[in-house]
Amino acid sequence: MSTLILGIETSCDETSAAVVADGEEICSNVIASQIDLHRKFGGVVPEVASRRHLEALNPVIGEALEKAGIGFKDLHAVAVTCGPGLLGSLLVGLMTAKALAYTLNIPLIGINHLEAHICANLLVDPAPGFPVLCLVVSGGHTDLFLINGFGHYRLLGRTRDDAAGEAFDKVARVLGLGYPGGPAIQKTAAQGDPNAIEFPRAYLEEGTYDFSFSGLKTAVINYLERERQKGRKINEADVAAAFQQAVTGVLVDKIMAAAETYQPAGIWLAGGVAANAALRKELQCRAAERDIPVTIPPPVLCTDNAAMVACAGYYHYLKQDFAPLTLNAVANLPLGEGQETGLTGCNQ
Ligand code: KG4
Ligand code: ZN
Repeated sequence: MSTLILGIETSCDETSAAVVADGEEICSNVIASQIDLHRKFGGVVPEVASRRHLEALNPVIGEALEKAGIGFKDLHAVAVTCGPGLLGSLLVGLMTAKALAYTLNIPLIGINHLEAHICANLLVDPAPGFPVLCLVVSGGHTDLFLINGFGHYRLLGRTRDDAAGEAFDKVARVLGLGYPGGPAIQKTAAQGDPNAIEFPRAYLEEGTYDFSFSGLKTAVINYLERERQKGRKINEADVAAAFQQAVTGVLVDKIMAAAETYQPAGIWLAGGVAANAALRKELQCRAAERDIPVTIPPPVLCTDNAAMVACAGYYHYLKQDFAPLTLNAVANLPLGEGQETGLTGCNQ
């Protein structure tokens, strides 16, 4: 009999519930996006997001069970994102998961959102070779991990300022491309010439796997201002393409440099920015030159979703790594922190 885990994800602006069997078969993955709600504000408004999660979550869970063709009584555990993320939003998912675990008398499993993003790769390849290098690139994170097996995340480098997704969102805003910025930049960049403008790429000091994107963002803003002052017409497509190439270039260069040092069995991408077609293509090309297998989840499993949460939950379930009903949400919950650790910070 399969182990059926209900995943719940409400850390930012997607309300999602999913049922995953044995950590690999996605029986359902329902995602109610709040993008239209936040668009008029040009970004996620935390209080508005929590309120919408509250309205959306119960119907989304109902739909996830219905699509999976099961009832509450068939569930073996409930896994929920407990951080990092927007505190109010996290709490909506967490309280719901606690209520379900209590009333159904099944285990509650707290999941680190970054670990969930990483585990989207296990939905694609449930039996990978380790170690794996994984770049988690999202709206809030740009973290490069060396993973020595489930639960063992060594943080090799991270952004010192803006996350890559944040840079996409901010540059899209100054270009007037709207929110969310990543998909808008990708679409606009498709019509542009990435070599038309040369934007700076920050590699930082020799040997570091840290990233920095605030200088690039400022360079784009300064370029636009200069061109406008000179009364020149701005070619948005060229700006988007050159910016996108500068971001993906640095990301892939750093992954490949780490691959040279750590000789991983494979490379994974995770997080919303991993949905970016240019990044996916560049990583695949560069890794193929070195014969390193690459796994990248399909775009729907890169951006926030509950299937990745349920998948991570399955591996905690196997270890009986359950959380007490006193589990709390932690807005800045870390993962890995530069050392080998099996802790996610949630279930202890
Ligand atoms: O993982 P995610 O859905 O939420 C967080 O955990 O932050 O990532 C959202 C981020 C946003 O910054 C969004 O602009 C970016 O991922 N993103 C993309 C693409 N799709 C989403 N960035 C570049 N290209 C895309 N196609
Ligand atoms: Zn995310």
